[in-house]
Amino acid sequence: MTDQPLVLGIETSCDETGIGIVRGHTLLADAVASSVEEHARFGGVVPEVASRAHLEAMVPTLERACDTAGIRLADVDAIAVTSGPGLVGALLVGVAAAKALAIGLGKPIYGVNHLAAHVAVDQLEHGPLPEPCLAMLVSGGHSSLLRVEDVTLGVTPLGATIDDAAGEAFDKVARLLGLPFPGGPHIDREARSGNSIAIDFPRGLTSRRDLERHRFDFSFSGLKTSVARWVEAQQRAGVAVPVADVAASFQEAVCDVLTRKAVDAAVSEGIDTILIGGGVAANSRLRSMAEERASAKGIRVRVPRPGLCTDNGAMVAALGTELVARGRTASALDLPADSSQPITTVVA
Ligand code: KG4
Ligand code: ZN
Repeated sequence: MTDQPLVLGIETSCDETGIGIVRGHTLLADAVASSVEEHARFGGVVPEVASRAHLEAMVPTLERACDTAGIRLADVDAIAVTSGPGLVGALLVGVAAAKALAIGLGKPIYGVNHLAAHVAVDQLEHGPLPEPCLAMLVSGGHSSLLRVEDVTLGVTPLGATIDDAAGEAFDKVARLLGLPFPGGPHIDREARSGNSIAIDFPRGLTSRRDLERHRFDFSFSGLKTSVARWVEAQQRAGVAVPVADVAASFQEAVCDVLTRKAVDAAVSEGIDTILIGGGVAANSRLRSMAEERASAKGIRVRVPRPGLCTDNGAMVAALGTELVARGRTASALDLPADSSQPITTVVA
């Protein structure tokens, strides 16, 4: 097998149908069809709506990716697909499609972990991952700090959210402020004209006592409640809510805790590179604060471009080529979709 394998990656764990095609570390196609607009009026992703949208988008997105890459399906060396974690009905659509392709083409199938794929994708932009590196994954469904030695073998969780994910907090606070779903990009935009020290919102799990048990864990549910109480008090008093100031102060609280803990974890693990991934990695304040705090400790920060931070098929293909190049064992054809696939299981 070549060290520049050609892999097709399929991602359907949430509301994006992503098909990526990667050769070695080169991205050839990254076709994404999102059902986000169908969920907007519900204020969150509706699993059944997402599954149906994946079914409808699968074949056209696959065709679009092959056209863009200028390849035929028969050219690929392997199929990689997100087998978990995620919404089970949504995952099933991708896994079933991947199995059909693997059987039809006679190619191996790799059922991969969604979080490991968020880590591997940065290789497409910034080259091979330093081993070890510290990954901070922040999205609508997860917020974790991971020690990564070899992304094809497994990652060691150092900490995670004990309640809401960071992106979930952005989405809930945006809703309180009357901003559309998904809220992260809207808060990011509003915050640019706001005062980030206008309101002193709480920083979860940063007290001396909490740090003893939860040094690298996060909690965003108290912050969300605090924003809700503050906004309600303004409304009761008949005062207009200063949306930009609330957005900026809330965003500052989230980014403060995330970057503080990521840098602390890197220093304590003796790691010189922090990789940030997941949808919230697109946040402009998170990027600048991480750069600032990490460089003060001699630590490099790598963040893929926003389109590769949010869910996509390229990340799955990027992990797939690495698995093939490193000779890792493929999955069995009866591989299940596992909505709670642990981060320690890279290939199901
Ligand atoms: O990784 P992703 O596309 O899907 C999940 O696996 O969840 O992340 C989506 C999340 C949403 O919660 C969205 O509000 C958040 O990422 N997000 C942002 C920004 N862009 C997307 N949060 C903060 N600032 C942004 N610029
Ligand atoms: Zn994700």
